[in-house]
Amino acid sequence: MDPRLRFRLSLTIGLAVALAGALWALADGSASSRSVADPVTVKSASTIAMPPTAKSLPAVSLRTVAVADPCGQAAVKEALASGGDDAVVAAFGGGAAFRAAVATGNAPCIDLGDPVRDWLVVNKTRPLNPLAYAPASLSEPSLVVDDTAGPLRTDVAQALDALSAGADAAGVGTIALGSGYRSYDTQVQTYSGQVATYGQAKGDALSARPGHSEHQTGMAADVISCGGGCGTIDSFGGTPAGAWVAENGWRYGFIVRYVAGQTPITGYDAEPWHLRFIGVPLATAYHDGGFATLEQFFGLPAAPAYPG
Ligand code: DAL
Ligand code: ZN
Repeated sequence: MDPRLRFRLSLTIGLAVALAGALWALADGSASSRSVADPVTVKSASTIAMPPTAKSLPAVSLRTVAVADPCGQAAVKEALASGGDDAVVAAFGGGAAFRAAVATGNAPCIDLGDPVRDWLVVNKTRPLNPLAYAPASLSEPSLVVDDTAGPLRTDVAQALDALSAGADAAGVGTIALGSGYRSYDTQVQTYSGQVATYGQAKGDALSARPGHSEHQTGMAADVISCGGGCGTIDSFGGTPAGAWVAENGWRYGFIVRYVAGQTPITGYDAEPWHLRFIGVPLATAYHDGGFATLEQFFGLPAAPAYPG
């Protein structure tokens, strides 16, 4: 049987058993406060005395049921070993199921610190490992502001091209890359430049320290809007393209990583131009769930400042 089908089937059986258990507990006047998300173990029927009310219920065959362990599923193991990130998310049952499993601690095989994966979370309390990580495959997207823009991870460059074509088709102009991959050494320059200009506190709200930037993974794109001419990253949020990207970026696998009002969680000022690629399945779940930060999405602590 298809492992995903088996997973759904066992989930269905599990829910049916849990429902029967809840009815039973209600009849006994002792309904528990256990959430359906909690691990559920139903004891063998032979070990539990049936209350009189329950005896009138239709017969239910009970057995021990363990909550599904996604990481134990063959499809998940196979996808992690050889499939792409979308295949792993699909093996979990889709973006929302993947998110829920990770956020509830039910996905120990998923490492949110793996810098090659779409689900990487890097922030002020979660440095890259290794600190000087560099992606293996980088390519330039079709539209770049100039030679300083740098490349992106190859699949992310392709996704940005698709995003730009989508913006063009929607009549909001094209979207070009202003700043993509930045090495550890480049981030040293970027960060120290901001601190030199604005001081330590403001510099830390504007730029990540080396080893802590999504740009170092090739999965972050600072974008600009191009119509008659091109704007700057600072003007992007106020353009039709900026509004369109905030609404539609998820369709291409991108989220706006640092939005207004979330500085206490992200530690950064709003950056409507800073897009982070997390893949279409996860970006869809992020959008559909109304999430505003990756930290909330994966149930991680806020990261407003560097430790120490
Ligand atoms: N500006 C963002 C936070 C970075 O430097 O990665
Ligand atoms: Zn950026």
